[in-house]
Amino acid sequence: MSETHLLDGKVAVISGAASPRGIGLATARMFARHGARVAILDLNEADASAAAASLGAAHRGYACDVTDRDACQATIERIVREFDRIDVLVNNAGITQPAKLLDIDAAGWDRILDVNLRGVLYLSQAVLPQMKKQRSGSIACMSSVSAQRGGGILGGPHYSAAKAGVLGLAKAMAREFGIDGIRVNCVTPGLIQTDINAGKISDEKRAEILTGIPLNRLGGVDDVAGAFLFLASDLSSYITGAVIDVNGGMLIHG
Ligand SMILES: NC(=O)c1ccc[n+]([C@@H]2O[C@H](COP(=O)([O-])OP(=O)(O)OC[C@H]3O[C@@H](n4cnc5c(N)ncnc54)[C@H](O)[C@@H]3O)[C@@H](O)[C@H]2O)c1
Repeated sequence: MSETHLLDGKVAVISGAASPRGIGLATARMFARHGARVAILDLNEADASAAAASLGAAHRGYACDVTDRDACQATIERIVREFDRIDVLVNNAGITQPAKLLDIDAAGWDRILDVNLRGVLYLSQAVLPQMKKQRSGSIACMSSVSAQRGGGILGGPHYSAAKAGVLGLAKAMAREFGIDGIRVNCVTPGLIQTDINAGKISDEKRAEILTGIPLNRLGGVDDVAGAFLFLASDLSSYITGAVIDVNGGMLIHG
């Protein structure tokens, strides 16, 4: 049986995708398998290039701190020069910090909001003019169950606020750019096993968390990558402003 290529001919940009066990690289891998050419963005050029090389020769890595507006603009201009087009943007880069509300200081607040929320704005602002020119595009933004339930497991209130901000920003972009054929959606994962939480959950805590997950397991990176693949592909051609939960049933809405 031949494999279906859902992203043939498409160029995808994924931020924060160099982390070897992260959701971004898993998404890049799945996109590449489905025929996309992928531009991997991350803080470090060597890491981003190595991650891209691991996918094959058609893919490239770029150093791009999403909190730096000029870097976002310059990187996206380079990608358009080198790939000729951009069909998909996955705003995946993010950081977390476990803090109680009264312990959040100004620097922590700024850092968490900058990477998780400001970064979505800057990278989307850099990509949207090209998508407008093409009169099509799909932007998928990484939020979290933490936005919906006021705290995930590890992130502090500033992380919840930033990820809730992503939901509002993405919906506003969906409204403004639908006329240009551009779709904007969010994914809200539950607890996914990556380096962001590795070694931070005790066996007891893990067992306790599992009692609240109907599917009775933590998520894997491909569980989230699959949702991004759907949003990037034409299978979701009439879906915009949506939020897709990938949480094993941890939060079932009324
Ligand atoms: N793992 C989970 O349980 C979970 C749940 C919900 C949401 N998320 C979100 O998923 C996304 C990916 O996280 P992950 O779990 O794969 O963790 P990860 O730490 O493996 O990946 C995050 C990546 O973002 C990169 N990054 C950090 N700051 C950056 C910046 N300023 N510019 C560009 N890149 C930057 C890191 O270098 C890293 O490669 C994050 O936005 C995270 O908040 C994760």
